[in-house]
Amino acid sequence: MSYEKLKTKWSNQYPAIQDLAKKAQKRIPQVGWEYLSAGTGDEDLLDRNRTAFQRITFLPKFCKGLFEVNIETTLFGRKYAAPIGIAPVGLTGLMWPRVEHYLAATCNRWKIPYTLSTVATETPETTGQHVGDMGWFQLYPPKDMDVTASLLQRAKDAGFHTLLVTADVPMASRRERTKRAGLAVPPKMTLKMIWEGMTHPVWSFYTLKNGLPRLRTVEHYTNNSDMKFVSGFVGNRLGGSLDWEYCKWLKAHWDGPVVLKGILHPEDAAKAVEIGLDGIGVSNHGARQFNGAPAAIEALPAIVEAVGDRVPIIFDSGIRTGLDAMRALYLGADFVLAGRAFIYGVAALGKYGGDHVAHILTDDLKNNMVQLGVTNLKELREADLVNDMSIA
Ligand code: FNR
Ligand code: LAC
Repeated sequence: MSYEKLKTKWSNQYPAIQDLAKKAQKRIPQVGWEYLSAGTGDEDLLDRNRTAFQRITFLPKFCKGLFEVNIETTLFGRKYAAPIGIAPVGLTGLMWPRVEHYLAATCNRWKIPYTLSTVATETPETTGQHVGDMGWFQLYPPKDMDVTASLLQRAKDAGFHTLLVTADVPMASRRERTKRAGLAVPPKMTLKMIWEGMTHPVWSFYTLKNGLPRLRTVEHYTNNSDMKFVSGFVGNRLGGSLDWEYCKWLKAHWDGPVVLKGILHPEDAAKAVEIGLDGIGVSNHGARQFNGAPAAIEALPAIVEAVGDRVPIIFDSGIRTGLDAMRALYLGADFVLAGRAFIYGVAALGKYGGDHVAHILTDDLKNNMVQLGVTNLKELREADLVNDMSIA
């Protein structure tokens, strides 16, 4: 079996990310679904991440005959088949067992980057076996620098070459929906959970096969694989430690590009460039941390202006279509990442679900570039085609 054999059927059954989200919601137990889809506070920002994209419209140019578009791109000296990659997602196994391995393999097939989270439920060692040379590693900065050094070494040894350091979690955010749903790590064996297990048999089958979700990368630093202890470890030792000195330390100790993820203020972006970091990740963490932030796409133009051509900008938060990717690339991003979309894909369709998401996003990006009348990313960026500049 390969994705190519499934593509036509799936493209008719599930033409959009929304179709995958609907199916995923049925297959993931409620608490995992709530964790995946939740924002924070009244979740106003979740909507704004979407509506801000929709406000950006273009004036297409026609009469160019037949042409093909090329979306290949180079980032930090490496070639990627598209300017689209997978964002780091933690507690992954709660949503679907082995999602990391499946998505890593997807990225290796598609030649797009896969970012493994520090708090994923599979390790760099096992995920590295699937990712080829498409691996990026996301770091939640531990307070204990020996742990940091060890995580970097493990990621490097497993073949991950690009480091994303997450800046936008100064502390855990309030996730009201996941509280209401009773998120506990490990899942508590309440009657409700047993019912959830019975009514989501595919998830349960693979979870039994793979074992209950655990933070397999960081539990290594405890002598105790009890998740209660591990989640305390994450809360107490990975949050609130990052400052500019720490960033400099990471730059000095990581032999490869370092990207600061979660940046919204142009001054933070400028500072990161000044201290020698290699890229800026413009993101509001998929609306999961600070409900008072702007849509990430609204913050992008000012950061593009502050950074200029000095370092690449990697955008995420709210990408659900190739058109969204096109909007971010037009406004000056060099690359975009999607988080939830790829998880929906695997939860809905299994092993090759991520391939289908890659297909939807890249096909939609190419199609919209043709509709607009641009043939490659450079032309897209330099075109003067935006209709509504109220975004800037
Ligand atoms: C995340 N995100 C995230 N970011 C990070 O740096 N480390 C992490 O472990 C996680 N974990 C995580 C879990 C879940 C369930 C989600 C949905 C998101 C944020 C992620 O990398 C990215 O910024 C957003 O997902 C982008 O928004 P979209 O594409 O989901 O709208
Ligand atoms: C989240 C953390 C893991 O967004 O980053 O849930």
